[in-house]
Amino acid sequence: MGDYQRIYEQSIARPEEFWAEAARAIDWARPPEQILDASRPPFYRWFPDAELNTCFNAVDRHVANGRGDAVAVVYDSPVTGALRRYTYRELRDEVARAAGAFAALGVGRGDRVIVYLPMIPEAVITMLACARLGAVHSVVFGGFAPSELAARIDDARPTLVVSASCGIEPTRLVPYKPMLDEALRLAAHPPARCVIVQREQQRCDLVAGRDHDWADVVPGAAPADPVTVAATDPLYILYTSGTTGRPKGIVRDNGGHAVAMTWSMANVYDVGPGETMFTASDIGWAVGHSYTVYGPLLVGATSVLYEGKPVGTPDAGAFWRVVAEHGAKVVFTAPTAIRAIKKEDSAGTHLAKYDVGASLRALYLAGERLDPATYEWATSMLGVPVVDNWWQTETGWPIAANPLGLERLPVKAGSPSVPMPGYDVRVLDPAQAPADPGPTPAAGVELPAHTEGAIAIRLPLPPGTLPTLWGDDDRYVSSYLSTFDGYYLTGDGGYVDEDGYLYVLGRTDDVINVAGHRLSTGQLEAVLAAHPAVAECAVVGVADSFKGQVPRGLVVVKSGMDIDPAVLAGELVARVRAEIGPVASFKRVDVVAALPKTRSGKILRRTMREIADGRSPAIPSTIEDPAVLDALRPVLAPDPAT
Ligand code: COA
Ligand code: AMP
Repeated sequence: MGDYQRIYEQSIARPEEFWAEAARAIDWARPPEQILDASRPPFYRWFPDAELNTCFNAVDRHVANGRGDAVAVVYDSPVTGALRRYTYRELRDEVARAAGAFAALGVGRGDRVIVYLPMIPEAVITMLACARLGAVHSVVFGGFAPSELAARIDDARPTLVVSASCGIEPTRLVPYKPMLDEALRLAAHPPARCVIVQREQQRCDLVAGRDHDWADVVPGAAPADPVTVAATDPLYILYTSGTTGRPKGIVRDNGGHAVAMTWSMANVYDVGPGETMFTASDIGWAVGHSYTVYGPLLVGATSVLYEGKPVGTPDAGAFWRVVAEHGAKVVFTAPTAIRAIKKEDSAGTHLAKYDVGASLRALYLAGERLDPATYEWATSMLGVPVVDNWWQTETGWPIAANPLGLERLPVKAGSPSVPMPGYDVRVLDPAQAPADPGPTPAAGVELPAHTEGAIAIRLPLPPGTLPTLWGDDDRYVSSYLSTFDGYYLTGDGGYVDEDGYLYVLGRTDDVINVAGHRLSTGQLEAVLAAHPAVAECAVVGVADSFKGQVPRGLVVVKSGMDIDPAVLAGELVARVRAEIGPVASFKRVDVVAALPKTRSGKILRRTMREIADGRSPAIPSTIEDPAVLDALRPVLAPDPAT
């Protein structure tokens, strides 16, 4: 039996023993005596009696262990030309001062802090400063519009917002501060104070009494010490799209997170002290939280914080320059970024300019399905293992991967390999699922190998995964735990093969993945439906060779309404950009006569999506009027360009 099989089996058969051992890697203020509290299913808590500080583990202890001069963070920003290295000692001092400044502004243990920042060092410093105080950060991605930011502010009710004057996209400056001002105007529960990083590329106005310039409050602040918190205290909230318009506040705790991050860094990503990890994901996403910030720092490695794109900053060699210049052992990004590079540099001309092979040992890809063509291209170009890993914001670390640090398993293109420790993954029969998940979930019936079904995970989930949704235990249960009794429903469909390799085929709900960014079609539909000319609408995620999926809208105009379809389409695209943000990549909406429905009135979104993807789906027998669907076929036909 290989190392993986032995360790995986132990983690499932004796989880408490397994995680107690993994927990030894953490410096606890009070080490765990109880490993798992299973007294209140379906709610489980890891390390319920332990105490620690995550920031101390990620920063201070490395200094205390004599590694204060090791580089913690390399800030590499091709969009500004900046390059700055922070040793662990420098990082500790900056974080302690930022924590002192936030404390002076009223932030304490358990208070929330919204972080709306581009990829600049202050973003990492702010996250760690919150962790130092036992405060709960919630980072909001800069590509979201003010109303999305306002919704997160109202759910989290922060004491403080930390933001910047601007972000920098390759072709434009993104003025963050006016968006923040607008969000604070829209919010019902705006905080009393903001700290703003003034960037020289575009400064902004500050509101007297409310806004504080980072440069005025942080450098002179009295450094704050780490505050000991319960392992079960929240470290952060990260909002993600659900099936409705309202984002879900995924909660991450302190203790389970520190243990799971540390385990995964050594065993999945194979990165440790003195080694460099380059995770090219915005800190607004789960990958950025886990593997740009916390994972590398918890193990005392060097993390590259990259403010740029895979292409255009300045060219398709950007990632390879970063690898060569900073000696990165591992690159972690989304398949869409590799597709962007491949599109511009399929022959690897830019790649050939850099000595990537001197340090690079693996490329990790997650966030969306890794298509075999991208896998093959990256493998042949880089000559290192290309590791597909499958996970979700909810889990915070891989559910399935090829754990290179533990044992290099054979790769099967199209599969993110095998379940990671603690994840008891099963493929269940969707036909058994209750029509409306409610108080009596169905018994999960496992499907045989190679049979597609709903991917579920037996409870309890391992440490590091969500214990609940912020302030909403009921929604946690109804969203994930009410379909199959004793299982967490991932929302992804797929199958396992005879060797236990997982194949993840895509979401079975209304969540779509656009360039590795997670969106809800329901949220987009809500924006379209609010237009006064729209009677009804549907948004479907259709396959796109570059972004994986893109949203497409179909709208029916209210009868008697006289509006030019092209004008309406333009207005709808503009509305989505203004209300959800450019991140939605919503570019196409068609005005149609009617939408295909079942006799009970449900819109046949999946059927439309499959037609738009060029497939020939079976038409449901419950369809109300097949002619409506037939009339849509030419509109839905795949765009030859994609
Ligand atoms: N602030 C403001 N606007 C932003 C933004 C930010 N932080 N990030 C993206 N946007 C804007 C972009 O400028 C773009 O605007 P446009 O419509 O005016 O062109 C829009 O949002 C869509 O962005 P994106 O989907 O990222 O497309 P892109 O063409 O700019 O870039 C990739 C495509 C592949 C280069 C980019 O998506 C990428 O690097 N993806 C990696 C995915 C990733 O990090 N996933 C996280 C999980 S691993
Ligand atoms: P997010 O919460 O933004 O990380 O998105 C999670 C969703 O992205 C998952 O539920 C999957 O649908 C998809 N996803 C992430 N990683 C992979 C992968 N390696 N293979 C297939 N789908 C993936």
